[in-house]
Amino acid sequence: VNELIINLPDDFHVHLRQGDETPDYAKDHEAHFNRIMVMPNTLPPIRSAESMLAYYQEIKAAAPSLNPLMTFKLHPDYTPEQLRALKEAGAIAGKYYPQGVTTNSEDGVREMDALFPVFAEMEKLGIVLSLHGEEPSAFCIDRERVFIKKMEKIWTEFPKLKIVLEHVSTLEAIELVKAAPAHVAATITVHHMCLTLNDLMGGALKPHYFCKPVVQGPQDRKAILNAACSGNPKFFFGSDSAPHLRHRKEQSVCAAGIYTAPVAMAVLMELFEEQQALDKLENFCSGFGADFYGLPRETSKKLRLIRQEWTVAEEYHGVVPLYAGRTLGWKAEKI
Ligand code: DOR
Ligand code: ZN
Repeated sequence: VNELIINLPDDFHVHLRQGDETPDYAKDHEAHFNRIMVMPNTLPPIRSAESMLAYYQEIKAAAPSLNPLMTFKLHPDYTPEQLRALKEAGAIAGKYYPQGVTTNSEDGVREMDALFPVFAEMEKLGIVLSLHGEEPSAFCIDRERVFIKKMEKIWTEFPKLKIVLEHVSTLEAIELVKAAPAHVAATITVHHMCLTLNDLMGGALKPHYFCKPVVQGPQDRKAILNAACSGNPKFFFGSDSAPHLRHRKEQSVCAAGIYTAPVAMAVLMELFEEQQALDKLENFCSGFGADFYGLPRETSKKLRLIRQEWTVAEEYHGVVPLYAGRTLGWKAEKI
């Protein structure tokens, strides 16, 4: 195969930041994606219908052919009226950030149970629960493994609430999602499919491979790769593309996040080819996510992947992307 044409992909987990930076990141996504689900951990966070709509307009103005799917940051104080207003303004998911586990989560939730009344309203309104699955009090490497033990309680109490465990990083999480009811799914990033702790810190520390949840062991990476390539509709693409300016990564305190938007489709193509699963790529990045969220599949816009070498730029707008400087074997272009 030297060329593959697929329906234009959707990315169900993206960070676009705020202010002057947003248009650049939005345009990078516009080059290869149709719909993107935008995360609400901006400064200040997206917590109201008004701020969500304003953010939507900003993204749309910068990248008119990109279709942002909006989210808001969960906290226990939402009233049913506020949640209804968010739903009416187009919110498709509420994002749960446990306190302090990742970028801009200092205002996150301490006790999951405090959110149960909010989950009940979300279930009624048909708003998806999007989970950053890390337990803050656990050892850093084990945070996801500990967090996921609490998930069964959510899906049993709220059998109609759709739940997405974002950016799965462990074999245990893959197994749990596989065994869970059909209303529980997971997003998979490119970086969790190709990196392990060895890449991050097996030799010198590589800040541009640092993200949350942190990349794990070879058996975890393999399980994630297999799940993505398996054709199981519970697993779909969410890049967690998370830009931080170079100086915020290359300093004594390194921000968590990997900028993958410019390379995601080329790297996915390479990984699916290696796994002899090219026939599974389109569902993974242009089908299952939309199906889970109850959105129509986009069939009129396409992405062409061509076997062609190109070298990843060292920086995009001051951000070092995944595989900066590396030559990749596939090139993606919207047609
Ligand atoms: O690595 C990460 N970066 N993980 C997250 O959960 C948030 C993200 C960010 O906003 O930078
Ligand atoms: Zn994220």
